[in-house]
Amino acid sequence: MEDAIIAVTGESGQAKVQASGALFTVLVNGTVHTSARDMLLIDFLRDELGLTSVKNGCKEGACGTCTIVIDGKPVRSCVQKLSKLAGKTILTVEGFSARERDVFAFAFSSAGAVQCGFCIPGMVVCAKCLIDQHPAPTREEIKFAIRNNYCRCTGYAKIEDAVLLAAKLIREQAPLPEASLSGRVGDRVSRVDAPAKALGSAKYADDFSFPGMVYGKNVFSRYARARILAIDPAPALALPGVVAVYTAGDIPGKRYIGHLAQDWPGMIDVGEQTRCCGDTLAMVVAETREQAEAAAKAVAVTYEELEPICSCDEAAAPGAHQIHAEGFSQFGKWVVPENNVLYRERLHRGDAEAALDGAAFVVEGTFFVPPVEHAFMEPETAIALPEGDGIRIITGGQGIYDEYHEVSAYLGLPMEKLRIQSASVGGGFGGKEDMSVQHQAALCAYLCRRPVKVSFSRQESINYHPKRHAMEIQGRMGCDANGILLGLRARIRSDTGAYASLGGPVLQRACTHVGGPYNYQNLDVEGTAYYTNNPPAGAFRGFGVTQACMAVESLLNQLAEKAGLSGWEIRHRNAIRPGQSLPNGQLADPDTAMVETLEAVKEAFERYEADPDYHVGIASSMKNAGVGVGVPDVGRCNLGIHGGRVHVRSSAAAIGQGVQTILLQIVCEVTGLTRDQIDVEHPDTHLTPDSGTTTASRQTTFAGQAARVAALQLKADLDRGETLAALEGKTYLGEFDFKSDPMGSPKPNPVSHIAYGFATQLVVLDRAGKLVEVLAAHDIGRAINPLSAEGQVEGGVAMGLGYALTEHFPLKAGIPQVKLGTLGLPKSTFMPPVKTLLIEKNDPGGVAFGAKGLGEIVCCMAAPACQNAYYKMDGVFRTRLPLEGTYYRKAGK
Ligand code: FES
Ligand code: FES
Repeated sequence: MEDAIIAVTGESGQAKVQASGALFTVLVNGTVHTSARDMLLIDFLRDELGLTSVKNGCKEGACGTCTIVIDGKPVRSCVQKLSKLAGKTILTVEGFSARERDVFAFAFSSAGAVQCGFCIPGMVVCAKCLIDQHPAPTREEIKFAIRNNYCRCTGYAKIEDAVLLAAKLIREQAPLPEASLSGRVGDRVSRVDAPAKALGSAKYADDFSFPGMVYGKNVFSRYARARILAIDPAPALALPGVVAVYTAGDIPGKRYIGHLAQDWPGMIDVGEQTRCCGDTLAMVVAETREQAEAAAKAVAVTYEELEPICSCDEAAAPGAHQIHAEGFSQFGKWVVPENNVLYRERLHRGDAEAALDGAAFVVEGTFFVPPVEHAFMEPETAIALPEGDGIRIITGGQGIYDEYHEVSAYLGLPMEKLRIQSASVGGGFGGKEDMSVQHQAALCAYLCRRPVKVSFSRQESINYHPKRHAMEIQGRMGCDANGILLGLRARIRSDTGAYASLGGPVLQRACTHVGGPYNYQNLDVEGTAYYTNNPPAGAFRGFGVTQACMAVESLLNQLAEKAGLSGWEIRHRNAIRPGQSLPNGQLADPDTAMVETLEAVKEAFERYEADPDYHVGIASSMKNAGVGVGVPDVGRCNLGIHGGRVHVRSSAAAIGQGVQTILLQIVCEVTGLTRDQIDVEHPDTHLTPDSGTTTASRQTTFAGQAARVAALQLKADLDRGETLAALEGKTYLGEFDFKSDPMGSPKPNPVSHIAYGFATQLVVLDRAGKLVEVLAAHDIGRAINPLSAEGQVEGGVAMGLGYALTEHFPLKAGIPQVKLGTLGLPKSTFMPPVKTLLIEKNDPGGVAFGAKGLGEIVCCMAAPACQNAYYKMDGVFRTRLPLEGTYYRKAGK
């Protein structure tokens, strides 16, 4: 133990710390606290004082979610030790004055600055420190003040708006405007959970703690591919505080899990080979987090290191090691992959070869897009608690019912003995669809009969969860002399890493969307997804369309140049219009507004094209809403009347996209009730019905329509003169099911998906190649909440720009060579203004008031639009991401 620190007691709120032998004494939020041992300030604030506004996004000093105020300055609490805080005044959001808390909660809520919310308390701290020094900050000063705090959701603009508003309210000592009770469809409704998230009182999984709780920790493989010769838990068991070490033989149920293919073992057994560095060899359980970490390092593993397969070429090579040679169960059948192929997809319509032979202009190219890390700000945590002879689990994933099924299988426990409850979720973007910590926490709690928390460190999160797929896309595209598209031939290879995850559907979406949002019918597309020993790849915002869009839109811009047309003009000539057939065969419905997205950016495109000071790139996209292609797709939402209030219950995971507020608005719109009469509950398998996974931009449409169905029943009762009090205890069930046609349907025009969203984005560079502006025109059907929709667009554009320009994910022998701080995530100072243009053409009487999901398409176009803008600047036709030789990234970096 270090010697005592020095303290001082104080008058008038001065920092006072006292030398007290072995005690470390610090002043937090005006109160003196002591600790018997030195520790990181973040741990002291969270674990000892329960100050949950201080978030652990990395514990590496990289993300800013743990920011607190020390002597008036924003400081990261994860790089401060108690022993260095003598004489300092420490303030967290919990210690702000009541007026400051009210102002920041109001400003961040009404500006739409809160999505998943995990970064927000840290932003609020930065805002307070800035406003205290500069009561009237400019937007540039705000950008600078929050430059070291990542937000993966918002694109920063609405956070900046919130700080501007908070500064004004504080500066002018203005009373807070009356909060609007309106929750109607089409209103700019603030999120239901925004105030609690802004002030740090919203609880994420890691914010919970229970009496007697112990900590579980994974022992991960040191190598991507190795044979496990021995696992000796004895050195770990000899350490203080260690409760147990569990290995593969301790799993009571099915060891292999996975949503679609059960190819992912919860633990690798002795004698088996690892498939990636995220493979778990053992779980240790100990009384404290530190003891669990020490024990995980102490488990003695003997490896035989083997050569990993690190690319599609290596996976496909004759005689290559077969990563899943023993096979696995998938939809009740035993599958043994051949040639390391997880999945193949073929789409043939018309005669692409003949169309290309007859084309006036043809372009072709091969594009390489890398894996990308989701970098949601909240690393994975789950807590499992033994209850009776069952287990309750608090999670932060994207689908509690998927977890329900998989934990049940893993433990060999019937589902009725499990209960899964979702806490607030600090972002997902697809990266929390697969199981990560949930099943391991459940296993440890089931075996040791104590509450167990399992958390990934930031690096473990990066190493473990599935990424955006790296793909190689080869395309050949042709048009006639007038620029009318005739056909496309494409070949796609994707690296799905060690496990299937959603690699099949992601490849399928890449194949079904590589034709683009255009009116032509000659398509020849083949795709193959290969297993490798890289980290798994799976769902990530865009779901294969992001990759396909990079290829097809770059080719289309090249074709436009050959045909002597602008990028805008070739799109306008070919844009899918109502009644026409998409390249995948589906007829465009009457509300299709692809042309309108182009017309919305026409003036800006032509203005920038004509100005030699700028370079403007253009790209368009379409994206399905809903799982589609014949897969069962059901949304559910019930309304329960309790305590004179309406409780909205759906398992639709709120991962930052705002689905809870959408459901509230739909109920308000249908029933005429106001938002203060309605509570939206968190997903809970005991209370909320299965609404499927939050994926495929589906919940606004599916859970939203289910909410409408339930709300119509409630309205009928209210119209009969019933009051909520009189309806006490009644439940209204809402369900919406849409049957789509499967892939390969013999129908001439199969309905693959319930709806498609369409969009066009422009990226504008200055002469130096620096981002100036992004214009994003989106066919959203109907904006249930324009404030939220803008936030989705701004955040998606930020993610797309990162994909285009700065983000990378280098691997060496299958091991990520990157930390959170070196991923190249966009910061506030990187982001240009984003102008959102929402196009609402749908029949408001349609499904979910005509809303189409927006969550994914928003990030699909930035990469090809940037590629096009840089090509116009320097004539280099780039085919790899992130783009090199730009203002943001040197060539050959
Ligand atoms: S948790 Fe401290 S900077 Fe990320
Ligand atoms: S709202 Fe900022 S990370 Fe989600």
